[in-house]
Amino acid sequence: MNEVNGNRLSVACGGLHAYDIVWEKDFHAVSGELAGLGLEGRKACVVTDSNVAALHLDSFLHAASPVFKSVTVFSFPAGEESKNLDTVRALYTRLIEESFERGDCLIALGGGVAGDLTGYAAATYLRGIRFIQVPTSLLAMVDSSIGGKTGVDFEQYKNMVGAFYQPSLVYMNLSVLLTLSERDYRSGMAEIIKHGLIRNAGYYSWLMTRRQEILDRDYEALLVMIRESCAIKRDIVERDPKEAGERALLNFGHTLGHAVEKLKFPSLLHGECVSIGMAAASLISARRGYLSHEEYEKIVRTLQSFGLPVLASGITAQEIVEAAGHDKKMDAGRWKFILLKQIGDAVIDRTVTREEAADAALEILKS
Ligand SMILES: NC(=O)c1ccc[n+]([C@@H]2O[C@H](COP(=O)([O-])OP(=O)(O)OC[C@H]3O[C@@H](n4cnc5c(N)ncnc54)[C@H](O)[C@@H]3O)[C@@H](O)[C@H]2O)c1
Ligand SMILES: [Zn+2]
Repeated sequence: MNEVNGNRLSVACGGLHAYDIVWEKDFHAVSGELAGLGLEGRKACVVTDSNVAALHLDSFLHAASPVFKSVTVFSFPAGEESKNLDTVRALYTRLIEESFERGDCLIALGGGVAGDLTGYAAATYLRGIRFIQVPTSLLAMVDSSIGGKTGVDFEQYKNMVGAFYQPSLVYMNLSVLLTLSERDYRSGMAEIIKHGLIRNAGYYSWLMTRRQEILDRDYEALLVMIRESCAIKRDIVERDPKEAGERALLNFGHTLGHAVEKLKFPSLLHGECVSIGMAAASLISARRGYLSHEEYEKIVRTLQSFGLPVLASGITAQEIVEAAGHDKKMDAGRWKFILLKQIGDAVIDRTVTREEAADAALEILKS
């Protein structure tokens, strides 16, 4: 474990302090944080989805509004289907109608969809306006709100249009996780298990020993877990902000996982596909002799014990390999496959063949 303490973690970009991640039990501290960024008396646009608006918008506005001169709310229908340029266009229109200036700010209140599209609008409106991430899903807290990747889907292509753009603050109220659906919560756990597998064997073991408290969403367990996962992601993105190298390790489970996601959309969630992809990548790692067969089986059991799938159905190995061949993260026509040298130690491997991938895909199609 990294032993992160306290309720704040600082993230640097290009060696300079870029923003803080703050963890709290409610929204009470958000006004102080926003005022500390010099946003007092400015305008804010809170961008949120229809589900989160119904559950958490009032309490967020109650805490945050006193800081600003005015607050407008832009709400869009929940779901990946909204993460596109049409929604961004409607948001630009609102910002122009309400005369938003560069010193004002956007606030993303929601999951990865709200965060990604708000970040992209913030990166491009007036060539860059400040934005705050208030992630409310587990996936957004430990993954999408950190690291500055923003963007939207374009036609059938996921995250095809985007920008690297850093928020000014990431504020997490961990209590909002209590309203997240069981399925979305478990899906977020896939990225957390991934963090342990690629970087920290001690954390991976800790997740297993605290499994019940984690599944019960016990506050103390959530705090330790989310802090640790944020620290792992922070360390990686600070060293490699634009994915020139090491950051690709975060794609463990994503090469075949994205392929399954594309083929099964919308019936499987992102984290569920990543879980299936991690099982396949772990199998390749075991077949290469990096992991023992017992370690591979233990990874599969861990994923299952968090309610995550490791098998897919209704598709073929060939379709999976074909879909993975169109992955935008390929490098000169070769997969940048992430394998585990051992638990807690991932490597980028450019030598995984179609046959190896197809054999692993066959394994995740077994019923
Ligand atoms: N930028 C990045 O680095 C990065 C990394 C990983 C994923 N992503 C993107 O993130 C998106 C997936 O994120 P997601 O899983 O958060 O999706 P999401 O934003 O669609 O949220 C999932 C569901 O949970 C609901 N929800 C969110 N918070 C809630 C709460 N507290 N209580 C009840 N319901 C709540 C949402 O309304 C939605 O229905 C994808 O578009 C993916 O591409 C981006
Ligand atoms: Zn992911």
